[in-house]
Amino acid sequence: MPDASSPISNGRAASDHSDADGDTLTLDRSAPTTLDEIRLPVEDDLEAFRSYFREAMRSDHMLLDKITQYVLWQKGKRIRPILVLLSAQACSGTATDTTHRAAALVELLHTATLVHDDVVDDAEERRGVFSINALWKNKIAVLLGDFLLSRGLLLSLDHDDYSILHTLSDAVRRMSEGELLQIEKSRLLDIDEETYFRIISDKTASLISACTKSGAVSVTDDEALIERMDEFGETLGLAFQIRDDLFDFSVEDAGKPIGIDLQEKKMTLPLIVSLREAGRREKKRILKLVDQDDKTRDDLRTIGTFVDKHGGIAYARRKMESLASDARSLLSALPPSEARRSLAGLTQFAIQRSR
Ligand code: IPE
Ligand code: IPE
Ligand code: MG
Ligand code: MG
Repeated sequence: MPDASSPISNGRAASDHSDADGDTLTLDRSAPTTLDEIRLPVEDDLEAFRSYFREAMRSDHMLLDKITQYVLWQKGKRIRPILVLLSAQACSGTATDTTHRAAALVELLHTATLVHDDVVDDAEERRGVFSINALWKNKIAVLLGDFLLSRGLLLSLDHDDYSILHTLSDAVRRMSEGELLQIEKSRLLDIDEETYFRIISDKTASLISACTKSGAVSVTDDEALIERMDEFGETLGLAFQIRDDLFDFSVEDAGKPIGIDLQEKKMTLPLIVSLREAGRREKKRILKLVDQDDKTRDDLRTIGTFVDKHGGIAYARRKMESLASDARSLLSALPPSEARRSLAGLTQFAIQRSR
């Protein structure tokens, strides 16, 4: 995790690659930018992933099967399985069947946490359609999340994928801790930049770094390389969550509710830094608004204008771009390949995406 108190805007992480600068520039210039292009090197592996994923979703229980069909139909971007597969290919040239199962496990865990997250956040929309809790209520959503989690664990155990399971279980632990810390802080409304980074590192970057790490673990024993892929995923994951948090302040439709973070008293980077910049009276006035249980559109607009005025959005964007640049630099430790170019492209996609 970067030190939040120190500027990270030099845009370049340390690299042991002799040709690091030139390499990074090449990665920046030629990287693909759409998901269709990015996943091209692992198209066949994705087929194997889908088959494990679909099978793990299946249930003889009628209601469960109906809900998992719904989940399969409203599929997300699937950047996590793509990351697992690309990481394996970038490290060793080819993914293995263990990699395919790691990709399925990751997407199962991700789906389970989203289903639970929408209960926690009281969110009625996900991926442009009704969330599970909106359609079937909280009780069913909690149980569905547990079902998906257990199917993921079983998939790994059935094939003795212990080191993958270890990496992913640790990520799930951190995700729960991150979400809990976030709730704790939203009750107290006292959060600084360092705590924000701790929260997003735990709740989001943990799983994204587990993707890049487990992709590597599935094909190599090279500890230094595994560590580098872990670090790449962590840095990418932080940038990814800042992009997500920026959605809350925009007017674009990202397929999930806008303004919900503020409504839930979730303080994210743009607001945190704006409060830091504001005078005592203005800060008090805004915190009072944030603390209100049912905020009107006008309240949300007032907070949005405040954040804009104090440069909170611009600051978060700069931080996000700098992290993405650090992440891309970490890739220069890998030998040049199509998969490496796609990982660089995915890093760009993570901060430019519209959903
Ligand atoms: C959403 O992740 C949850 C966050 C960590 C912000 P994605 O944006 O990858 O969700 P889907 O799977 O594409 O819907
Ligand atoms: C990320 O936080 C959620 C998880 C890590 C599960 P958010 O609550 O911001 O994610 P979205 O915006 O609901 O997808
Ligand atoms: Mg949420
Ligand atoms: Mg969000």
